[in-house]
Amino acid sequence: MPNTELYIGLMSGTSADCIDAAVANFANGHCQLIATQSSDISDLRTEIHALAQPGNNEIHRLCQLDRELGIRFAETVNQLLTNQQLSHSEIIAIGSHGQTIRHCPPSAETRHSFSLQIGDPNTIAQLTGITTVADFRRRDIALGGHGAPLVPAFHQAVFHKPGTTRAIINIGGIANITLLHSDIRQPILGYDTGPGNGLMDSWISRHMNQPYDGNGDWGRQGSVIAPLLHQLLNTPFLSHPAPKSTGRELFNIDWLDRQLTLLDQSCSPADVQATLLAFTAQTISNAVKSHSPQVSEIYLCGGGAHNSSLVEQISTLLTPSLISTTDELGIAGDWVEAVAFAWLARQTLGGKPGNDPAVTGARTASILGAIHPA
Ligand SMILES: Nc1ncnc2c1ncn2[C@@H]1O[C@H](COP(=O)(O)OP(=O)(O)O)[C@@H](O)[C@H]1O
Ligand SMILES: [Mg+2]
Repeated sequence: MPNTELYIGLMSGTSADCIDAAVANFANGHCQLIATQSSDISDLRTEIHALAQPGNNEIHRLCQLDRELGIRFAETVNQLLTNQQLSHSEIIAIGSHGQTIRHCPPSAETRHSFSLQIGDPNTIAQLTGITTVADFRRRDIALGGHGAPLVPAFHQAVFHKPGTTRAIINIGGIANITLLHSDIRQPILGYDTGPGNGLMDSWISRHMNQPYDGNGDWGRQGSVIAPLLHQLLNTPFLSHPAPKSTGRELFNIDWLDRQLTLLDQSCSPADVQATLLAFTAQTISNAVKSHSPQVSEIYLCGGGAHNSSLVEQISTLLTPSLISTTDELGIAGDWVEAVAFAWLARQTLGGKPGNDPAVTGARTASILGAIHPA
């Protein structure tokens, strides 16, 4: 291919649904999504989610999963290369986010903050023949930051438009917002807003044995339980100031069960799903509203952008703002996170910082990640 500077980004979020791989071309300072590949990892979801909580024989289970995911990440890349008739030698590097197993951000309760992503990058480099950059979050944590979210710096690089204040909202298992100021000299704002699809996924999985609530249809059928919604919205994390980040360590089904016990009234499963849908829509919308009236454009990405009930509720709550997806900005919403890790690998190899201290709370910007040569 003439004039190419190709990187692959690998992403697997807290939903643990798929490995997303994206080839991006950064030639001439532009970011162009070239090709994508998705591999189902739902067979590993139970074990991934189990490791997010303390349990038996963790070290052995974690190391097994680390290698298994490394192999799956590599196979996804190799499949992508085959499908696109690309050679490994045409790819400068892979940026692999890894699978988050525990995220423990700075807080008064923990002595040392940490964040652990697995999916062995040595295995990825070995099986693909491509230099692999991984472990992006821990350098930011070593600098006192949350190590998350890391995507806002990428959003700024590719989605910023002078004179327009844009909000980019990624709805994965957890949701995060990036606020890109019209004036590029203003600091970027970015933080986790709370749950994305994670709670809704867990609830429908328990009651209907489905991995997710397609288009939010089940949630739409139920009625919101107002006192439960009120109680959920009072979760302390939601009123914490940024920088802040969260994960399945907080917003998981055991937490939801405790909330239901506290409520002490019988609730139908469909009504609980309707309440989780409303809870997710409100926490996301409240984050945008807290920066009103500056925000003039709102773009969604991540799997939650396919949940039409969720998108409708967010749109209603944010009327008259118009909401669209990052597809309109040239990168399809399903692939923004994977492309972000391709970009982060490029930053690392270029000796450039990957974190934004204004977002993560780190003391300084830093080159992120560890490089595993081909
Ligand atoms: N058609 C759809 N309707 C409702 N939800 C959807 C749909 N498509 C995807 N999702 C949601 O998106 C999730 C995956 O989103 P993703 O951005 O990959 O999250 P993560 O980064 O946590 O892996 C699924 O678990 C599901 O909840
Ligand atoms: Mg996913």
